[in-house]
Amino acid sequence: MSLLLVAGDRKLESWKKALQQTDPDLDVEIWPDVKNRDRVQFMVSWNHPKGMLNRFPNLKAVSSLGAGVDHILRDPDLPDDLWVCRVVTPSLIRQMKEYVLHAVLSYQRNFTVYARQKQMNRWSVHENRPHDSLKIGVMGLGEFGRPVAECLSDNGYQVAGWSRSVKSLEGISHFAGENDFDEFLKSTNLLICMLPLTKETAGILNLELMKKLIRPAYLINVARGEHLVDEDLIYALDKGWLSGAWLDVFNEEPLPENHPFWNRPNIMITPHVASVTRPAEAAEQIVENYKRVISGIPPLNRVDREKGY
Ligand code: NDP
Ligand code: OXD
Repeated sequence: MSLLLVAGDRKLESWKKALQQTDPDLDVEIWPDVKNRDRVQFMVSWNHPKGMLNRFPNLKAVSSLGAGVDHILRDPDLPDDLWVCRVVTPSLIRQMKEYVLHAVLSYQRNFTVYARQKQMNRWSVHENRPHDSLKIGVMGLGEFGRPVAECLSDNGYQVAGWSRSVKSLEGISHFAGENDFDEFLKSTNLLICMLPLTKETAGILNLELMKKLIRPAYLINVARGEHLVDEDLIYALDKGWLSGAWLDVFNEEPLPENHPFWNRPNIMITPHVASVTRPAEAAEQIVENYKRVISGIPPLNRVDREKGY
């Protein structure tokens, strides 16, 4: 039995080492060096080449190398009976909380504006946004969205959350499903997208949504680039409906050099680094899931393939 690591452009040696440090008996292979395809029962993938899964007759599960699974679920050749799981660790959640809190504070206190002014030797003071003027709305209250919403609320912000099912979160107002969506948007001026990418959520950050926010609003997207309609963001910025955006994820990554977002001073760009999976921290969870799966036990952090997350 073997565990196969597949990730187009990433170096995977450190992953192999971390997995074998966790379990020295583990047989780990790195695509495309596979000795015997029949032996592969568990695959760890980040953007695996489409069409490859059917070539492993005894494959039982595919785990994402990170938290998102959209890259796995969009493979049209994903066998129906395969378990799909992902990696969620306390460190990933902590990184996400740090990242979003930083983005919120930077917007509130104009730190991104001051960073730009420094490049121009310019001394110019801008008014802070008072804490209570920010009405934060978090879309998606899952493994990452919920702790982020709680962290912002613990920091004294007014926070609302939106998810599919009804929830009760202390100190956070909650909206659920399509019926509550407009009401949620109408009470938000700082929107944070933490939704999974599914057929229902693709393109959800569009002009219709932007029109409904309290103006001028600010957008933080740390989920997936495909949630955002790029041209709608530019249009809403030009109209003044949004005052700016903070983006970590993009429709095309790396963001092409000639993309209009680069020249917009009010769009902050980071290269998909909100929360980065480190091999040493994820290895234990992957090895545990490997052992569960080869014993016929469903993996931890299993994805509901019907729901798409
Ligand atoms: P989860 O799958 O744990 O949670 C998803 C949440 O979204 C749930 O609260 C769910 O509602 C809600 N949701 C799903 N579909 C809908 C819908 N149609 N309408 C309303 N609510 C919906 O997601 P994670 O917290 O693990 O991940 C969030 C995002 O962050 C993902 O896009 C992931 O890829 C991304 N990510 C980005 C990283 C980065 O570095 N930029 C790092 C890690 C993750 P309910 O609770 O009712 O089911
Ligand atoms: C992830 C990510 O899904 O980094 O882990 O986006």
